[in-house]
Amino acid sequence: MNNNEAAVRVKELTNTLNKHNHLYYVESNPDISDYDFDMLLIELQKLEQQFPDLASDYSPTKRVGGDVTKKFESVVHKYPMFSLGNTYSKEEIEEWVSRVKKLVEGELEYVCELKYDGVAIGIQYIDGKFFQAVTRGDGSQGENVTSNVKTIRTIPLALHGDYPSDFEIRGEIFFPLENFIKLNAQRLEDGEPQFANPRNTASGTLKMQDSRVVSDRGLDCFLYGVYGTGELRLGHFETVSKVADWGFKIPSQRNRYIEKTNTLDGVMNFINHWDANRDTLPFEIDGIVIKVNQYHQQEELGFTAKYPRWAISYKFKTERVESKLESVVYQVGRTGAITPVANLTPIQLGGTTVRRASLHNADQIEKLDLHINDVVYVEKGGEIIPKIVGVNLEGRSNDAKVVCFINNCLECSAKLIRREGEVHHYCPNEIGCPPQIKGKVEHFIGRKSMNIDGLGAETVDVLFKNGLINNVADLYELTFEQVVEMERTADKSANKLIDGIKASKEMPFHKLLFGLGIRFVGETVAKKLSKALKSMAAISTAKFDELVAVDEIGDKIAMSIQEYFLDEENRSIVDRLTTFGLNMEVEEQERASNALEGKSFLVSGVFSAFSRPELKDIIEINGGKNVSSISSKTDYVLAGDKMGPAKLKKATDLGVTILSEDRFIALLNN
Ligand code: IVH
Repeated sequence: MNNNEAAVRVKELTNTLNKHNHLYYVESNPDISDYDFDMLLIELQKLEQQFPDLASDYSPTKRVGGDVTKKFESVVHKYPMFSLGNTYSKEEIEEWVSRVKKLVEGELEYVCELKYDGVAIGIQYIDGKFFQAVTRGDGSQGENVTSNVKTIRTIPLALHGDYPSDFEIRGEIFFPLENFIKLNAQRLEDGEPQFANPRNTASGTLKMQDSRVVSDRGLDCFLYGVYGTGELRLGHFETVSKVADWGFKIPSQRNRYIEKTNTLDGVMNFINHWDANRDTLPFEIDGIVIKVNQYHQQEELGFTAKYPRWAISYKFKTERVESKLESVVYQVGRTGAITPVANLTPIQLGGTTVRRASLHNADQIEKLDLHINDVVYVEKGGEIIPKIVGVNLEGRSNDAKVVCFINNCLECSAKLIRREGEVHHYCPNEIGCPPQIKGKVEHFIGRKSMNIDGLGAETVDVLFKNGLINNVADLYELTFEQVVEMERTADKSANKLIDGIKASKEMPFHKLLFGLGIRFVGETVAKKLSKALKSMAAISTAKFDELVAVDEIGDKIAMSIQEYFLDEENRSIVDRLTTFGLNMEVEEQERASNALEGKSFLVSGVFSAFSRPELKDIIEINGGKNVSSISSKTDYVLAGDKMGPAKLKKATDLGVTILSEDRFIALLNN
């Protein structure tokens, strides 16, 4: 393919992918499969690697992230970003409406919107292209978070239709609840602490350096204001509807996310509807925003020092109830992390009965100065799990007993530890603490790890209580007789269990590695480690530098891996699993030749005939090894276009042979 042909195909692919992206994310109405979409995306990625000049900043390939921002630059807002005056009662809304009526002439229309609970963002488009995205900051200047915002699929990178040449669109970036719950579930599996609420997590995510992580987390955005549209003298409601023609996702009128009315009753009806139904939304809101629709009336009304006079927010009262703190229990996770949980006298809150509330950690208990039998305030707003926000001191008796965080694990009596810089206490007794033992086995048998049929949490509990298992290796020594002797176990289920355990020996190595439950080694990390280092032997003996040289492995993960394999008990478990015949290495792909046997390669830059991943595969199936940093032991650097000058210099200084793509192919053929 020559450059001209490639340019035509890149354009075609870009248009097709943009169209499908819009159908999928903005209109929720996809018309091709995910697989077909991925194939088109991969084709575009390959063309952009082969013809780097054709890779535009607005390409759909930018959605997967990859850009790293070390420092977010400060940007002054062209139009200051105001916030809104808050009201908390319907009377105040009535007062606002009468004020507005006194200040402007003519008929009034009001636009009612949801007040999305996220992070404000201003995005500038120049000539229909995403130019930059800036956070609110202090209202007059914010931070440039362009690379991260570009990964949000509902925000178009290139517009279509009759858009103005230079304008800014503002909105709220938020965490959809489904993605937030998924992220926390993943963190639980990886042994990482939970995020407390979607808003703060959205804000933290937007400030992450690696845009790939932002892309994976699945943020979303609703748009609520357009600036600089010049002679487009429509009302706010009409402008918001109009931007859909340019490719933006706008709040749905059908679902009543936005509504126009010309009466106070209409406004109240919207407020009442969402007051009652906010729990049904797939994202969090903290109120309603009412805006005067006509721009000329907005101008007439103007601003106070802080807020627009033409808009107001109605904040929901966070539902708060009183209950009694009956006791505090301490849950122990599979990694030993201790979570204090409050047992409350059951109470109705937001349509459900609440019996327990999370207390997060020791600092939280201390901050609240909790005493047993305290009358506590419980809220649900913002947080998924109800939480205690304060104590009604009037209800406290003089002899009330203060809640003291435990010093020793209630399950196994071990002295708890708290590592520097961490908020959680841990029980260090990994091998003797029942919930940790059972938690580790449950993780090992889980669907994403060894997926053992016929074995669930309840059976793990019974096996443990019967003294039959103390760690994951013990599973492989269980016999039918032992299992069937246990209370309430029929022959059939005993057989199923033993067969399931036996079958799990065939599971691929990366699943086993994940199943060991090494702290911070989640599914993706386990896959990356297996791909790079190939075997348990290599991973367990890898030097720190070798570990951090693996894609996406940082200091924290590398340290955790080393800690795991330094532990004698862990090593013995792994040794036993080896004896039982589990897969301790990656199954090698069939060799194409031994032409590169024993040689190590570093592949860097952009190539014309093959992509980088393709070249790495070629190296491996011909017996070679890929490394991700240059040392004097590296045999070859396979250098493409745009390889970093620092790497080239290092290779030259160390005397490593540098190969072009053509010379590499010649080497292979020899
Ligand atoms: S309009 C000049 N509309 O609430 C008025 N803001 O306290 C500009 N917000 O910083 C804001 N949903 O982050 C507007 N539908 C909505 C909103 C909304 C959420 C946030 C926004 C703003 C804050 C104001």
